[in-house]
Amino acid sequence: MNFHILTLFPEMIEQGLNTSITGRAISNGLLSIEAVNIRDYAFNKHQSVDDYPYGGGAGMLMQAEPVYLAYEAVRKKIAERKPETGSDDEPVKEKKLRVVYLSPQGDVFSQGMAEELAKEEDLVLLCGHYEGIDERVLEEIVTDYVSIGDYVLTGGELPAMVMVDAISRLVPGVLHNNVSAEFESFQDNLLEYPQYSRPEEWHGKKVPPVLMSGHHANIEKWRREQSILRTYERRPDLLEKSNLTEKEKKWLKDQIND
Ligand code: ADE
Repeated sequence: MNFHILTLFPEMIEQGLNTSITGRAISNGLLSIEAVNIRDYAFNKHQSVDDYPYGGGAGMLMQAEPVYLAYEAVRKKIAERKPETGSDDEPVKEKKLRVVYLSPQGDVFSQGMAEELAKEEDLVLLCGHYEGIDERVLEEIVTDYVSIGDYVLTGGELPAMVMVDAISRLVPGVLHNNVSAEFESFQDNLLEYPQYSRPEEWHGKKVPPVLMSGHHANIEKWRREQSILRTYERRPDLLEKSNLTEKEKKWLKDQIND
């Protein structure tokens, strides 16, 4: 999968994502992360990319043209990489390139959104700065508005990195063991069960005996129950969206009433 990040701070993206699991996936050729410096597309000799907002108000706005030119450069590069298919009479319809603008005004990012976006071959992420970006270029190029939560950051770079991280780990092969991407927090809207490693006893706390039993069916059952209980206690909003069986609902009721 190829990420193309339009930003005024490419070094922030490069330093943040070239390490750890995403860094390894880049080295393995499973991912590419290209940070495109919008300033390279400034059209004046001072290389400025911002200006005052019409109508007044605090701060500066990123201008439309450098953002548009940076986007166009990425779009053309992707189009050139793809082999021509179909014929002149019947050209194959190009899949629309997804362009995400990171903004507190967007839909709140979720695991479901990460799963959907992980199916794309190319994804463009547009990072704003200052007081935002001229609305006209957003209207022209943006397909999705995404927020990472109800708070305001100084720019879109950290949110873009959050998205790249969450999406990358769903790309086959990025996590060495694909099982761990499947059975973890938010699978079926349940949080992950508690986990333990050696030693068997630490600060007087023992590992739950069922985990030492070697009885796989009992371990699976215990883990599922712990996931349900934990979600009830910590994220009851998620539990409403999960698919509990009637038996599990009754089990939970009994636990709560105990
Ligand atoms: N830019 C500034 N704040 C943001 C947020 N919460 N999510 C996405 N982009 C942002």
